[in-house]
Amino acid sequence: MGPVMATVPPATLGGQFTADPPGRSAPKLSALAFAPVAADIVEAERIFDRTLAPHRGPFGPLVEHLKHYRGKRLRPALLLLTAKACGGVTPHHHTLAAAMEMIHTATLVHDDVLDESDLRRHAATFNAKWGNKVSILLGDMLFTHAFHLTSTVDVRACRITGEVTNRVCAGELRQVTERGNLDLTEADYFDIIDGKTAALTACCGKLGALYAGSDDATAERMAHYGRNLGLAFQIADDLLDLVGTEDAAGKTLGTDLEQQKLTLPVIHCLNRLPAGEAAKLRDAIRAGGDGLGLRVLAALDRTQSVAYAKRRAEELARSAKQELEGLPRTESRAILEAVADWSVKREK
Ligand code: IPE
Ligand code: IPE
Ligand code: MG
Ligand code: MG
Repeated sequence: MGPVMATVPPATLGGQFTADPPGRSAPKLSALAFAPVAADIVEAERIFDRTLAPHRGPFGPLVEHLKHYRGKRLRPALLLLTAKACGGVTPHHHTLAAAMEMIHTATLVHDDVLDESDLRRHAATFNAKWGNKVSILLGDMLFTHAFHLTSTVDVRACRITGEVTNRVCAGELRQVTERGNLDLTEADYFDIIDGKTAALTACCGKLGALYAGSDDATAERMAHYGRNLGLAFQIADDLLDLVGTEDAAGKTLGTDLEQQKLTLPVIHCLNRLPAGEAAKLRDAIRAGGDGLGLRVLAALDRTQSVAYAKRRAEELARSAKQELEGLPRTESRAILEAVADWSVKREK
C-alpha cells in the first residue's frame, strides 16, 4: 500500500541528536547521540560480525547484506547506556548488546516476511531479495546465534534472554492471530506491543543494570524504563505506519491497515465514531483497496485519534524517565532521558 499521506514534514536524518530543541518538532538520532558508549557499540558490532563470519563462505551475499542493513542500534545503545549509568560497561555487556541486536534483527527479518515488506533500513528486505524461505531460516539462525552468545556469559543471561524472546515471539504470533479482528480492544493492543517490542527493550535495561552490579530493585526499575520506552516507541511506530514517509522511515509503511492489524489510533477512532459509521469503516478496512488510507486518515482526524495516541506515548515516555530518577546524574542518564523524549517524536 505504501504511505497513505505525508502529514509529517520530510525528515532530516542523521546529524547530532538533541533532546527537543526549541522550534523543531522532530529531534534526530544518530551514533553521536550515544557518544558515551560509542566505542562499546563498535565492540558489540564487532562481536555481531565475528559471530556471523563463519557463514561468509556458504552464504556470503546474505552476511554481506546484513552488514549494509544497519538500523539505529537502539537496543545495544539502551543496554550500554544503562550499564554506564548504573556503574560501568563490562565485556559481558558487549556480548549481550550484540545478542540483543541479533534477536531484534531476527524479529525484523521474520516480520518483513509476515508484513510482505520490501524495504527496511533503507535497503531491500531479505524476503524481497532472497524470498521467504531464505528469510525464515536466516532469522532462525540469528536467533540461535544470539542464544549461543548469551550462553557464553552465564546461565542467568541465557535464562533472561530466553524468557524475553518467548514473549517477543508470542507478541508477534498474537498479532498475526488477531489479524482481521476489527473489534480488537486497547487492552489487546497493549498486550501485543508489550510482548513484541517492550519485552526486548525492558530486557536491555535489565541486563545493562544487572551486569553493572546493580541490585535487583535497580535492575527492575531499568526494566520498567525500557518497557515504558518500548511501548511509547511502538505507538510512535504505529503512527508512522499511518502518517509517516517511507523516505524518512527507510521501511515499507502502510502495512498495518493492509494486513488488517488494528493499532492504537484506529482502535480509538472506531470506539469514538457513532456505531453506524464505525461499522462502515470496519467494512472499508475489510474490503481494503487504494482509497482506504485516505478514508481512515479522515476518520482519525474527526476523532482526534492521532493526537490521542501521541498523548498516550508521551505519558509512557514520562513514566520511563521517572524510573531513572534514583540514578546518579551522569551524561548517560541524561541521554536515556532524551531517548525517551525522542522515541515519541521520531520520524525514523
Ligand atoms: C523496528 O525497530 C521494529 C519496531 C519495534 C517498531 P527499530 O525502529 O529500532 O529498527 P532499526 O533497528 O532501527 O532498523
Ligand atoms: C515490529 O512490528 C516487529 C517487532 C517488534 C518484532 P512492526 O511490523 O510494526 O515493525 P515495522 O514497522 O515493520 O518495523
Ligand atoms: Mg512490520
Ligand atoms: Mg510498524
